[in-house]
Amino acid sequence: MSKYLLAVDQGTTSSRAILFDSDAKPVATAQEEFPQHYPQPGWVEHDAEDIWASTLRVMKQAMQAGDPSAIGITNQRETIVIWDRASGKPIHNAIVWQDRRTAEFCARLKADGHERAIQQKTGLLLDPYFSASKVKWLLDNVSGAREQAGKGKLAVGTIDTFLLWRLTGGRVHATDWTNAGRTMLYDIHRRCWDAELLKIFDIPESLLPEVYPNTYLFGETDPAMFGRAIPIAGMAGDQQAALIGQACFEPGMVKSTYGTGCFMLMNTGPDAPISTNRLLTTPAYDISGEHAYALEGSIFVAGAAVKWLRDKIGLVETAGETEAVARAAREDHGVVVIPAFVGLGAPHWRPDLRASIHGLTLDTTAADLVRATLESIAFQTRDLTDAMAADGTTRPAAIRIDGGMAKNNWFAQFLADILETPVERPASHETTALGAAVLAGITTGIIADKGEFSQKWRSDARFDVEMTRTRRDGFLSDWSKAIERALR
Ligand code: G3P
Repeated sequence: MSKYLLAVDQGTTSSRAILFDSDAKPVATAQEEFPQHYPQPGWVEHDAEDIWASTLRVMKQAMQAGDPSAIGITNQRETIVIWDRASGKPIHNAIVWQDRRTAEFCARLKADGHERAIQQKTGLLLDPYFSASKVKWLLDNVSGAREQAGKGKLAVGTIDTFLLWRLTGGRVHATDWTNAGRTMLYDIHRRCWDAELLKIFDIPESLLPEVYPNTYLFGETDPAMFGRAIPIAGMAGDQQAALIGQACFEPGMVKSTYGTGCFMLMNTGPDAPISTNRLLTTPAYDISGEHAYALEGSIFVAGAAVKWLRDKIGLVETAGETEAVARAAREDHGVVVIPAFVGLGAPHWRPDLRASIHGLTLDTTAADLVRATLESIAFQTRDLTDAMAADGTTRPAAIRIDGGMAKNNWFAQFLADILETPVERPASHETTALGAAVLAGITTGIIADKGEFSQKWRSDARFDVEMTRTRRDGFLSDWSKAIERALR
């Protein structure tokens, strides 16, 4: 009898469930988008009940193709929910990773000199992106929350934790160390919640979940939900799951995922180097007792810019169309887009900035704008690889890419040209979900170990560097000038 693994990939704009067979081949996929809420400029919220209902529906749909032996969960990271332990009801909408409402509070902590200690312990930089300031905001602004928290009546969690709680019928309150590592409350070296950080953010420890490795038997689904108890045997934040799904298990290997944002992770092995170039240090995985860290560059807007082109200004009807439009557009259009729609992440960390377009002339066409938007994602990625190099890492032999934009061949080629590094695209496009399935497979013995999975990993396309140095230098110089103007 074939053994199946079900991966739940709860992302920023949609919930997905993918059923894999024991050879890590996808058998069935179900996906549902859910509403985004923007209550004020710079604020982004999700209704946690939408997240739960859509996740449950896609799980049930994917399970129609086969009965999974185990479930792996991967999730949008940093997004935070607080709920009542007795009723299981969230006390407020989830505050999403893109939300900037705590920018001022973070700036104040920075001015008070807290960033260095925070970076040493958590590997993170002071920015509203991470969960801690969002938890504080909820406790300070939801009526009665602080009092209830003081009585131990509330629980906090990233989306993995919230789903685990719901799937186990409220029996398990736990997370994994990659998600814990994004809260800004977790010491990634000592591997525990940190009392000093909890004090800085004024958060009672009673709210927090237990933290476990990525391959771990987190719990079992409530039998009433799917007719039987199914083990939940792996969890990881989505970018770390993609690193696993891309089989980047050796130090120096790099993956870059182009989803809502773009997140580039380089495996640094068991060492956790602290960046001097404004990158993050983050837990990569802990699989069967072997752990690794990663250097991460986080860009907040990648696919979201394509969504903006399609949904808000209507320059394309489908995301896929951008490939043909960019290919046909002029190369010397002279337009530079700075896609700081929710501020800029690495390496600039400017939550206050907003997007801008430079170099418009009466000659500028819609195609120029589409191409310039795609180009900007490649230029931002180049800033990340430069920061990684400045941190003393060796330039990788190739960068493994995935996510929606990775399907765009024009973009993949331009990326290789701008990065001066070959780009590889895996045969399996479902890298993030695959990572979660692999974790659950290893815990339950369906997959022997990461070595077995690594041997099966294949790329189906490789993009070698074709652009001349002069052309690349021209692009990069226009980009640097526009970034300097935007940062002023
Ligand atoms: O850190 C945020 C990241 O986990 C969001 O991922 O795939 O929803 O863009 P995604």
